[in-house]
Amino acid sequence: MSAGNGSTKQSLVEGKFIRNAWYMAGWTNELDDGKFITRRIIGEPVVVFRTKDGSVTALEDRCPHRWAPLSLGTVLDNGNIQCTYHGLEYDRTGMCVNNPHRGGSIPHTAKIASYPAVERHHCVWVWMGDKQADPSKIPDFSVIDNPGPFEDTAFDMITIDANYKLIVDNLLDLSHVAYLHVGTLGNAGSTTADITVKEDGDDLLVTRLASGVEAVAMHGMQWPGHPAKVDHFQEIRWMAPSCLNLYVGLTEIGKPWDQGTGIWATHMLTPETEHSTFYFFTAVRFGMREMSEEQHKEIQHKIGVMRRYAFEVEDGPMIEAQQRVLDASPRNLDPSKLNIDLGTVRFRRAITRMEEADQAPA
Ligand code: FES
Ligand SMILES: [Fe+2]
Repeated sequence: MSAGNGSTKQSLVEGKFIRNAWYMAGWTNELDDGKFITRRIIGEPVVVFRTKDGSVTALEDRCPHRWAPLSLGTVLDNGNIQCTYHGLEYDRTGMCVNNPHRGGSIPHTAKIASYPAVERHHCVWVWMGDKQADPSKIPDFSVIDNPGPFEDTAFDMITIDANYKLIVDNLLDLSHVAYLHVGTLGNAGSTTADITVKEDGDDLLVTRLASGVEAVAMHGMQWPGHPAKVDHFQEIRWMAPSCLNLYVGLTEIGKPWDQGTGIWATHMLTPETEHSTFYFFTAVRFGMREMSEEQHKEIQHKIGVMRRYAFEVEDGPMIEAQQRVLDASPRNLDPSKLNIDLGTVRFRRAITRMEEADQAPA
């Protein structure tokens, strides 16, 4: 592909958020012991809590009386939440249902937004839009539902001070592992990958195969005694607008990928603001090789640590630096495109179409 020709000019980090979509508010275990999840999601303050009947409720985290966060409040036995400042009580639809003060009248303005919320794949998903919420559209992360012994890694999260689209770009173009993650997730062989991109239903699927290369450290440690040269495969599934599931690992040269060993690596991105993103991640191992329980435990732990390091110390600062450069630059920057960008180009086109459709009347 030639360098940017101006025909695809678009803002790299602007654009309204897609409201009619499921976003991950947090891990379900964040609600343990009666705790709240409190996060700004696509710019809106949201509080999520579990009620006595076991279900989850997601509401605007801002009392309309004097703007106290309801996350400082109390969940009552009847499932309502009570503001701790002056005691107004809201039900799960966001209506104020009790004013404890003299007369008890409730102004019509005393209501807050409520959001459909669903627990699935150890995550709490919230729907921020005005169109009908369809739980069948929740991104499929069933690979993490029921891991076997030593297969799972920690449920983790970092925040990156950048627009979520820059992080999707990063994950759809894993050629960067040869540079940014050299010695952990990538090596020199990673630049030799053949890349294909296709649509799979509503998803975008990018595959990369570097054949006959040295094992990268992340997967080499999962396969003691691996051959000197292996196939390194990466299949990246983008599920709109901001979730990705990766199937990555090593296999013998020319052998099917499912005979190899590696991880399902999940990435759930939730925009906080236009310039910050919650980045949730975990992983599940597949094709585990014979080894002692102690070795399995060590690898299980190392995968979690290595991935966190890669995202927090290697990807995060680079993506934040990109964001700062864009902030200081004219808005009509058009990237120089290389053949490694096939996936990101398709993503940018798809997300632009989605943004337009999202703003159409319900
Ligand atoms: S701010 Fe919530 S009741 Fe006054
Ligand atoms: Fe990376």
